[in-house]
Amino acid sequence: MADPIASTDDFRRAARRRLPRFLIDYIDGGSYGEHTLRRNINDLANISLDQRVMRDVRKVDTRTELLGEPLAMPVVLAPIGIGGLAARRGETQAVRAAAAAGVPFCLSTVAACAIEEVAATGAPFWFQLYTLKDRVFMATLLDRAEAAGCRVLVYTVDLPRPGARYRDVRSGLTGSTGMMGELRRVAQVLARPHWAWNVGVRGRPLTLGNLAGLIGSDAPIGDFLGWLGRNFDPGATWDDLAWIRSRWKGPLIVKGVLHPDDAEAAVAAGADGIIVSNHGGRQLDGAVSAAAALPSIVERIAGKATILADGGVRSGLDVLRLHTLGADAVLIGRPWVWAMATDGEAGVAQLLALIRAELETAMALTGRTCWAA
Ligand code: GLV
Repeated sequence: MADPIASTDDFRRAARRRLPRFLIDYIDGGSYGEHTLRRNINDLANISLDQRVMRDVRKVDTRTELLGEPLAMPVVLAPIGIGGLAARRGETQAVRAAAAAGVPFCLSTVAACAIEEVAATGAPFWFQLYTLKDRVFMATLLDRAEAAGCRVLVYTVDLPRPGARYRDVRSGLTGSTGMMGELRRVAQVLARPHWAWNVGVRGRPLTLGNLAGLIGSDAPIGDFLGWLGRNFDPGATWDDLAWIRSRWKGPLIVKGVLHPDDAEAAVAAGADGIIVSNHGGRQLDGAVSAAAALPSIVERIAGKATILADGGVRSGLDVLRLHTLGADAVLIGRPWVWAMATDGEAGVAQLLALIRAELETAMALTGRTCWAA
């Protein structure tokens, strides 16, 4: 019998036992030698927290406000491409768990479930947009997100082309199209009968839900990154952000900034917030971690825009660590997919309860009673 879950890493181990190899390797992996992926974790671990004592920490309040939205804690579930394949109609499960825990869920452009399917749950959510070559379709996505009641738009700018992901080539998720790729994936699915039945069969269609209008009703999962490479626009500039700004009335956050000049340019083009991020170590291997990038960005734009950060956050302690560097809130990516693979909506609820308990304890042990203070 498996041990009970005590940490996000336990969810990761449980997810590895449940998901087909191409899926868990896609979720867990980074680009090239995965140096930045490891740096994200190591840099966070190296941030010391100040222990403080005798401060009456009977009550610790993790609530905050982000871009006018009240949050039960300063945590957002990050957008993850095809993350929803980890469970049946996965994004609908994750959004429910996030809403119940009082934190935002951000739906990826390349999610399994479409905007409308997630909206039908009745739970509020954010929408993440990539720069697609087809600007008309991009505008359609913006309209659909607005019509679905998404309040916040996250515009990701660090994927003009995908970084090479060696794990995805080896697993057959990228590069090997046609029969051979298909056969490799089928073999991996058959090795995970629980997923095969619950998601592979009962969770159909397994497509990129938001893009069905662009690439037909069976938007492909196989050669997913190849499709990204062909359809994302490497020609994007800050003018595209200004264009989005002119169309999107609600709060707009730019995701994937690591340089203070870029942070400043994003704010100048109309961003209300930025996410300091290296895309979970999945893009430029060798890039600095959010922890390393934050101080100079905070120095440049604090007070002018909301600052969020992500990359390597694996505990409530990590949430506080990024806060000590100036992040107003933090995004959690891979752990929510691991938790959902482990136990669906209940797994994500358990993960969020765990992060919250860890954050409360971290705040208490550093003498903080209020996040907002
Ligand atoms: C983007 O969707 C990614 O796989 O990093």
